[in-house]
Amino acid sequence: MDLDPDSPLTGNIEQILAAASRARDLVRQILAFSRQREEEKRPIHVQPIVKEVIKMLRSSLPAYIDVRAEVDPNAGKIMGDPIQVHQILMNLCTNAAHAMRDDGGVMEIKLREIELGHEYIGKPPDARGGRYLKLVVKDTGRGMTPEVMEKIFDPYFTTKSKGEGTGLGLSVVMGIVKEYGGFIDVQSIPGHGSTFKIYLPITTKQERRSELRPQEDEITGNGEHVLLVDDEEILLEIATKMLEILGYQVTSRASPIEALKLFEARSRDFDLVITDMTMPQMTGDKLALKLLKIRPDIPIVLCTGFSERIGEKEARKLGIKQFLMKPFVLKDLGEVVK
Ligand SMILES: Nc1ncnc2c1ncn2[C@@H]1O[C@H](COP(=O)(O)OP(=O)(O)OP(=O)(O)O)[C@@H](O)[C@H]1O
Ligand SMILES: [Mg+2]
Repeated sequence: MDLDPDSPLTGNIEQILAAASRARDLVRQILAFSRQREEEKRPIHVQPIVKEVIKMLRSSLPAYIDVRAEVDPNAGKIMGDPIQVHQILMNLCTNAAHAMRDDGGVMEIKLREIELGHEYIGKPPDARGGRYLKLVVKDTGRGMTPEVMEKIFDPYFTTKSKGEGTGLGLSVVMGIVKEYGGFIDVQSIPGHGSTFKIYLPITTKQERRSELRPQEDEITGNGEHVLLVDDEEILLEIATKMLEILGYQVTSRASPIEALKLFEARSRDFDLVITDMTMPQMTGDKLALKLLKIRPDIPIVLCTGFSERIGEKEARKLGIKQFLMKPFVLKDLGEVVK
């Protein structure tokens, strides 16, 4: 069933779904934050990450986008970081969904292990032979012209209107894939759709016991007091619930100005501030600067959605070296302010 795009319901549903999926991202960021680690590669299975993304897409995309999946449970492991692999998938799937948002269509996600023979080597210029995990995200959307395709991996290249896309999605994907020793193959026909094939080298390395990471339940909060700032009320509500479940104590404010006032009065009450980046009254980075002036040691997590990632340049300016979908710990910001 198609929902009339002019129906008053459409906006609401989209808003709720967007908020729900951003709440998930937020929780990921917080989990990543509480791990207090640099991203580290280890042998991982990609299947659970793909399944999670598929589940999320099915629950959040409109029904006129049909999500189909084919995941080989026996495909081997790669050396990777689950958060980065999640990022790759989300960026590709967000693009695919966007390409079909006017007319709907089919999104196909496939995962299997393959052997790349000699005949394939050199096809994408950086391809080497061997065993690979092949991850395919295919859509029947609007497709790309050859001119567009040439530029899609350039940072900041976007055909979306201002405020809709940063153009960083695919450059981030490319960065991660290259770091993993993999490569990307793209095909597209304007008006018919696009296929992104990601190849990541299979590893046979075993994880040593001592390297096993703590379970998620060990890395949750321990009553730490979080000041949560986001102008979207729905998101605030969901995120607050989730954080409380994770063991944090949460005080939330929908207005960055209110949050700042509260922090001025009771800065010592908080262990951590989590703020959204894009807010009409004051952006997250500006808020972060002001909070750090009050308490230079307060850890701050700046959250950006997939479509509003902070630009590399801006992040650098703030002294942030990472601009991936990761928590930005703005501890060093104090020095930049000086
Ligand atoms: N599946 C696709 N179908 C059609 N065009 C695509 C697809 N994937 C990427 N593109 C094109 O490549 C451009 C760059 O993609 P990229 O993900 O890097 O940035 P973006 O999607 O525009 O912005 P952001 O990822 O920040 O939302 C897009 O603007 C679009 O023109
Ligand atoms: Mg994108």
